[in-house]
Amino acid sequence: MSQGDSSFNPPRGMRDFYPEDMILRNATFGAWTAAAARFGFQSYDSCVVESLDLLKRKSGEEVVDQIYTFADKSGRELALRPEMTPTLARMIAARQRTLSFPLKWSAIAQCFRYERMTKGRKREHYQWNLDIVGESSVSAESEVIATALYALGLMGLGKDKLCVHFNSRSLLSLLLNHIGIPAAHHQQTFLALDKRGKISDEEITALLNAAGIDKPNIDKIFQLTQISTLDEVFERLGKSPLPCQQIIRFMELIDAQGIRDSVMFDISVIRGLSYYTGIVFEAFDTDRKFRAIFGGGRYDNLLADVGGTPATGVGLGFGDVVIAEILAVNDKVPVANQSQVTAIGFMEDNQHLQAVSIATALRHKGTSVDLATHSEKPKGFFSRTGKAGFKQAIYVGPDDINSGTVRIKDLATRNEQIIKISEITGS
Ligand code: HAM
Repeated sequence: MSQGDSSFNPPRGMRDFYPEDMILRNATFGAWTAAAARFGFQSYDSCVVESLDLLKRKSGEEVVDQIYTFADKSGRELALRPEMTPTLARMIAARQRTLSFPLKWSAIAQCFRYERMTKGRKREHYQWNLDIVGESSVSAESEVIATALYALGLMGLGKDKLCVHFNSRSLLSLLLNHIGIPAAHHQQTFLALDKRGKISDEEITALLNAAGIDKPNIDKIFQLTQISTLDEVFERLGKSPLPCQQIIRFMELIDAQGIRDSVMFDISVIRGLSYYTGIVFEAFDTDRKFRAIFGGGRYDNLLADVGGTPATGVGLGFGDVVIAEILAVNDKVPVANQSQVTAIGFMEDNQHLQAVSIATALRHKGTSVDLATHSEKPKGFFSRTGKAGFKQAIYVGPDDINSGTVRIKDLATRNEQIIKISEITGS
């Protein structure tokens, strides 16, 4: 088959990463990893294959219907994980007695969801997960959000480009109680309201109706969604209920983190996953042209749901797809960088071994070297290495071997230096 004839493409929604694609992926992973380390998170990992049982939860959540499932040869029901949080809960529950809390864990997890393919949505993505488990104060929320914003800063995106919108499910519950909606209806109300903007208000009304809420109460729920400031919330509830106190403290901590300008209250943020119980948040680009960059919140029952001792957690997931689109429109996509690499070439097979010795000596001294694998004419060598953007080039020809020297050319400035081969190889 000649080049370009392959009739195989990756399965729909799955991605190949060619070397040029790895530049962005490595830079993204690099920013995530550096931010997690800077904020004191420990890394963890697990296999992409999970047991289906762990991932199946109550219906109503989109993600449960999107799970890729299969049976292994022994008939075990398995799945490709759609998210990392149930796995995290399983791993922590398994060692809950020996781990010390609060723990701060970070992972870059490949996740699979059989989604309708739209902008920002693939069927496979990498998702950075940051979680703090065992901390009931909102310092956990403030810390995970600050870490994610720090990573975005490393990618070149500051407060002028994005904003974290937050809300609180416990606060919403108070507001729902306040208008007379009993707790039994809150979960369904959250999942229905989360669909606002994705489906029509008539469809949401139908969902709320199916959950057993009557028309006058549905109207009151829609009125709640008009609240635009925390002051309006405090006017209804006062400031003393715990969820209000938590939000006030959260804002103080956000202020002290220096990220107050990047965080705002937004009653429309609810999140589509049913395990959240407290503060929930999503980061969006300022122009709201893209889907959420990251999203997360507090979950109180997940550890107990997987058989652990009850413990609260806060976390977020930050995918690599939406951020790639946002970096592109902001001209922040990193470019290939060979500028730290020295290229070494040689003219004839007679100089091959000398070129290998020079490359070996330089590599052992800490220089990255791209060594030619076969002889090349000087014109071809310098044209190739110049285009690839190497830092410098060393070309070994017959005269060099005779004189015991080589020319090192700085490919940016075109300056040449003659150096004794023995100085490089030490022999
Ligand atoms: P999520 O909102 O479902 O949360 O996903 C988090 C992020 O993953 C999204 O904001 C988006 O960046 C990315 N993402 C999700 N699905 C796709 C997709 N199909 N294609 C591309 N990117 C996608 C969770 O998954 C929670 N488990 C996060 C969490 C961690 N909560 C607590 N700890």
